[in-house]
Amino acid sequence: MVSKILQKMEVLLGFINIPSSGKFELIGNTKLPCSTVLNGYEAKIDRYGRIWSKYLKKRFPIGTKVEITKAENEYHIVPIRAEESSNYEIKQTSDLAYKISFEEKMKAFSQGCYFKSNSIYIFNDDILKITTIKDNSIDLIVTSPPYDVDIKYENYDDNIPYDQYLEFTRKWLRRCYEFSKDDGRLCLNIPLDKNKGGQQSVYADITAIAKEVGWKYHSTIIWNEQNISRRTAWGSWLSASAPFVIAPVEVIVVMYKMIWGKRKKGKSDITRKEFIEWTNGVWNFSGESRNRIGHPAPFPVELPRRCIKLFSFIGDIVLDPFLGSGTTLIACLETNRIGIGVEINKKYCDLAIKRLKEHGITQKKLLESI
Ligand SMILES: C[S@@+](CC[C@H](N)C(=O)[O-])C[C@H]1O[C@@H](n2cnc3c(N)ncnc32)[C@H](O)[C@@H]1O
Repeated sequence: MVSKILQKMEVLLGFINIPSSGKFELIGNTKLPCSTVLNGYEAKIDRYGRIWSKYLKKRFPIGTKVEITKAENEYHIVPIRAEESSNYEIKQTSDLAYKISFEEKMKAFSQGCYFKSNSIYIFNDDILKITTIKDNSIDLIVTSPPYDVDIKYENYDDNIPYDQYLEFTRKWLRRCYEFSKDDGRLCLNIPLDKNKGGQQSVYADITAIAKEVGWKYHSTIIWNEQNISRRTAWGSWLSASAPFVIAPVEVIVVMYKMIWGKRKKGKSDITRKEFIEWTNGVWNFSGESRNRIGHPAPFPVELPRRCIKLFSFIGDIVLDPFLGSGTTLIACLETNRIGIGVEINKKYCDLAIKRLKEHGITQKKLLESI
């Protein structure tokens, strides 16, 4: 690990001049110039051993002490602290995001939304195209993306070739990485594997892609849905010829952008009992009924509720990029978080609004909604 204090030109132009004492550790005998990756972003090292990336441009205040490490062929930079003497105002940086007031924070989310109340915002949009959500603005992402198992969504094809599905996964994980604050977290509910359209190691593949995009791995929670009716076939009954094994569980992969520890103190609302129970990474609760909710693949409120209380503070900004029937926003409402949902289908956005009203978006909040 090499540390250094960022100088004005480095911040303004977007490079890091690796100190000569750390050059061998970070660059070794690599032939320069060369291309590389820095915190998941494209970067290059010039012939003087300076790492250039658009990621670095005006990201940290002048005078920030950073630590630079290299793992495999990728570089990681983590800010340690900003010098008191820094006199440069940087727009759009994660540090600034912490300084701006609640109202200003919310103003950024109000434009172009399909529904808003005091603390809940719904966008009828494509997560790959949405422009309203600012980079470095989200504390926690809780989501369950489409699984590519031929679920009949209204206007999304859930039965595409697996390589295309993984490409889509890469794109949205990349977008969400950009939306996330440096200490932002991701709770990703996905299946362990799938057998529809051929056996695939979904959890392993998506986790690997998330890491390639820049997300850091923290842990995995097993969600035991206690639903044995998921079994659809035995394969070869009572024969070793070609039996099928299926685990009736899903997982919640917990990842973070750059720093696991929260940069600022906040207020938690988790009880002692919940903390002890939920930090045991096998969660036992039932799935949600499609018919009851009116959506083909809802998760139960218990899932985002646990993720939110365990991994975010009261008042934090939580995003669900695949909102569906609005379950994550119901959990936000119950736990006093600011909830932002993106859903490509208008009918599901309307369903989410209906559910939110039923779950106690108060009259005052409704009156203030658009
Ligand atoms: C597994 S469901 C999410 C269900 C949700 N957790 C709930 O409890 O209702 C995935 C959702 O993603 C939506 N979707 C698919 N592609 C999308 C995209 N590019 N942008 C935003 N939403 C998308 C689908 O319409 C579907 O409602």
